[in-house]
Amino acid sequence: MLRAVVFFLLLQTFQMASSQDDGEASHTKSLETFFDSNADGNCSSIGGEVINGGGCYECYVCDDYSSRMQEKRKKNVYNIQLFDEACKPTQFCCYSQQDSVVRTSQVDCGTRNPSGVPRSIRNSLKSILPGEFPWRTWVFRKSDRKNPICAGIYFEINSRAILTSAKCVDDYVEEDLSVGFSRHNGNLSVRELIVHDHYNRESRHNDIAILLLSSSDSLPHWAQVACLPTSPPQIDTSCVAISHDDNYVNTLIPLQKRCYYPRHLNETILCSLTARGDYEPEFSSGLFCEKEMTTNKISVVVFGIYLYSDNEISIYTNISNYNDWIDNNVQPTA
Ligand SMILES: *[C@@H]1O[C@H](CO)[C@@H](O)[C@H](O)[C@H]1NC(C)=O
Ligand SMILES: *[C@@H]1O[C@H](CO)[C@@H](O)[C@H](O)[C@H]1NC(C)=O
Ligand SMILES: *[C@@H]1O[C@H](CO)[C@@H](O)[C@H](O)[C@H]1NC(C)=O
Ligand SMILES: *[C@@H]1O[C@H](CO)[C@@H](O)[C@H](O)[C@H]1NC(C)=O
Repeated sequence: MLRAVVFFLLLQTFQMASSQDDGEASHTKSLETFFDSNADGNCSSIGGEVINGGGCYECYVCDDYSSRMQEKRKKNVYNIQLFDEACKPTQFCCYSQQDSVVRTSQVDCGTRNPSGVPRSIRNSLKSILPGEFPWRTWVFRKSDRKNPICAGIYFEINSRAILTSAKCVDDYVEEDLSVGFSRHNGNLSVRELIVHDHYNRESRHNDIAILLLSSSDSLPHWAQVACLPTSPPQIDTSCVAISHDDNYVNTLIPLQKRCYYPRHLNETILCSLTARGDYEPEFSSGLFCEKEMTTNKISVVVFGIYLYSDNEISIYTNISNYNDWIDNNVQPTA
């Protein structure tokens, strides 16, 4: 949204500048000359470093997770200021979109296999195929590797990290647990269990945990990571959750205050709406929303970890709120 606004402003100001030019070769003017010619008038204008060639950079508010990540990763960031009519400047950071959407070591994430692995046929319109979302995992007790205690989401390759709810794993130590990429085969060892320090059993706030898998086990060849969000989900996005019997649950992320709920919803939790009588998502499974990451590539981003429902309202841990916590706990080893 903000990005669109910036583009609109760029375009509008550029057109204003061009039209004061008596049309003379104005369409050949580059953004670069525009910056120069505007150095003395600050209102309704743009200031800052010249964007090389004008090409592949897009602008985002600097005080945003993905912008901060750019600086942390020492990527090239150009700063510009937009001045409104009152000459009040707003700072924007410009960098390649390609850089902004991919989190550390998430080079290739969120690609679905619409026909399953191995290829198979849906037995109903709402059924999900094995391997279709190749980051779906399950958490087991080692004493029973056939029946999972909850679901999980594979999201980081180098440290082999799985996201799940704290409630699912809080009573265990890593030696008790195993993970599988199939619901009936928990054959992978867990080398570390990290439960959020401020997980609150009563309120369910900070209900998030990470499992790191042993590096010596072989994962299925089709295993793939989901993308983590770099910004919160947009209101009115439609997303899917998945039930324990592998059916789609269609959900919509509403304005959060529309989720009437006796408990206080703050930014640690997010809610979605599902149709009355629809399937219930599986405990600790992901809320998956499609997002255009780079031009022509739609990727699946996981925005929530399913906790519980109250009629049509489903409550999830709001993953966007834990970006820093996740980065601090998952150190890519490669
Ligand atoms: C107006 O622009 C000039 C040149 O870009 C800059 O030096 C000056 O600080 C700006 N004034 C304000 C109020 O931002
Ligand atoms: C675990 O099982 C999967 C199939 O679900 C298989 O691809 C993988 O190689 C197995 N890994 C180990 C360590 O047994
Ligand atoms: C969210 O709400 C819970 C319960 O009302 C509270 O304990 C917690 O501190 C709040 N978290 C934040 C980040 O405000
Ligand atoms: C989730 O967390 C982010 C980051 O703290 C926050 O901006 C957002 O409002 C929260 N809620 C939703 C529904 O995205």
